[in-house]
Amino acid sequence: MGKNFKDEVLSRRTFAIISHPDAGKTTMTEKLLLFGGAIRDAGTVKAKKTGKYATSDWMEIEKQRGISVTSSVMQFDYDGFRVNILDTPGHQDFSEDTYRTLMAVDSAVMIIDSAKGIEEQTMKLFKVCRMRGIPIFTFMNKLDRQGKPPLELLAELEEVLGIESYPMNWPIGMGKEFLGIYDRYHNRIEQFRVEEKDRFIPLKNDGEIEGDHAIKKTGLYDQTLDEVLLLNEAGNEFSPERIAAGNLTPVFFGSALTTFGVQTFLESYLQFAPPPKPRNSSAGEIDPLSENFSGFVFKIQANMNPAHRDRIAFIRVCSGKFERGMSVNVPRLGKQIKLSQSTSFMAEERNTVEEAVSGDIIGLYDTGTYQIGDTITTGKEQFQFERLPQFTPELFMKVSAKNVMKQKSFYKGIEQLVQEGAIQLFKTVRMEEYLLGAVGQLQFEVFEHRMKNEYNSDVIMERLGSKVARWVDGDTVNENLSNSRSLLVKDRFGKYAFLFENEFALRWFQDKNPEVKLYNPMDMHD
Ligand code: G4P
Repeated sequence: MGKNFKDEVLSRRTFAIISHPDAGKTTMTEKLLLFGGAIRDAGTVKAKKTGKYATSDWMEIEKQRGISVTSSVMQFDYDGFRVNILDTPGHQDFSEDTYRTLMAVDSAVMIIDSAKGIEEQTMKLFKVCRMRGIPIFTFMNKLDRQGKPPLELLAELEEVLGIESYPMNWPIGMGKEFLGIYDRYHNRIEQFRVEEKDRFIPLKNDGEIEGDHAIKKTGLYDQTLDEVLLLNEAGNEFSPERIAAGNLTPVFFGSALTTFGVQTFLESYLQFAPPPKPRNSSAGEIDPLSENFSGFVFKIQANMNPAHRDRIAFIRVCSGKFERGMSVNVPRLGKQIKLSQSTSFMAEERNTVEEAVSGDIIGLYDTGTYQIGDTITTGKEQFQFERLPQFTPELFMKVSAKNVMKQKSFYKGIEQLVQEGAIQLFKTVRMEEYLLGAVGQLQFEVFEHRMKNEYNSDVIMERLGSKVARWVDGDTVNENLSNSRSLLVKDRFGKYAFLFENEFALRWFQDKNPEVKLYNPMDMHD
């Protein structure tokens, strides 16, 4: 690395794309990677999604369903910046995984299909970003198609999401009549589908085109000028500080599919998105520029590549410099570990990573050492980063091995898949039966599939339906309170929890047993 440590850290931009399925996340990711030179052919990421691309065929199920159930990390360099994109699965059943990934980024890019406006999944993900004060950059996609009027889209941002916006540019027409964008920030017009030399039309100080131009003859030009005038007069003011604080979202219009507006977006994003920020820990704020290496595990994934049968712990670097072969402390385990097997993530292949700084994501080959949320540190001071959000499972299944002779692979599979964090494991207190809890149904299907394919274990799944799970505050509870409507279980850390039939059963229980203090882990970070 040619730069010094400080410049390296300040050049990092680490983000996730949040969007509703089909808004264009995959297309956008691919275009960004093309600009960054990380992939050579359009279609690489796309093909991965549809399963046509063999080398990234990480999971059989991803291929079968045509959805992305694995979050991956992609890195590229652009204009002196090093960009890390953390992919988040779009399917809502994987929200827990997605939410944790959002703990590892410094900003988010929100892609909205301009014909659909703000959709459900975007709203959920947006809330998590808001909770963490993550700056959000909005890309209104698919302007090459007829969509909602741009002013209506802005109103939706403010009304539905409750965030103020600043349009960095404004579309000139849309759909068949899409001519380009009026770039307020750069005071230029960027034309759609013209030769590169004609792409930009500079504007005068008054925001108009000098002299004659074909685009002026269209009524769309005048309409755009009127709307821009309205924005200048009645819209929010541009404020880099408010963007960085997550209180104002800059809005860009474009069309990812035709690569229009993407480069302008990328360049402005890099200019205004924040570099790695200090993170809270039990020892106060940890400065990304501090010398001692630290990071946390936000994701664990087994068998990313079936040919390797490996398990990877994804670590967000929060301070210092990672060097291959270094020794780190894992405060939870109270022991030192030498990090010799590490990997970084480029779009097309995994490379061995030699060095990484704050903002980067490294993958450590893991043989069962790490858990999600683990902090790793170097230096004398031992500390823990803030807890990662835990999501309260809503759906439950009873699970057992079909073949009693194969209990060993059953237990091994369950243990490893549970550590990845997509499903939670409980045992009933009396019979010690295994129950699985998840946020969505699809996670059970993935579990079943992976148990069979990766651990050679056929399982019997018995549906328990939805339950209201509440943890017991304290280490003891009267086990006789367990019954079918309020089932007492222990989670994998040995903490007691009740699974209530429904909200009514929960209230009834609380009335009858006021001495039992219950809590919902999700309320702790609302
Ligand atoms: P996702 O990852 O958010 O789920 O969305 P993805 O990029 O896969 O895009 C969803 C669909 O929207 C794709 O069409 C894609 O080609 C299309 N799309 C993305 N950006 C634009 C855009 O700027 N303009 C237009 N017109 N379409 C766009 P598909 O038919 O589902 O897939 P495909 O057959 O094109 O691959």
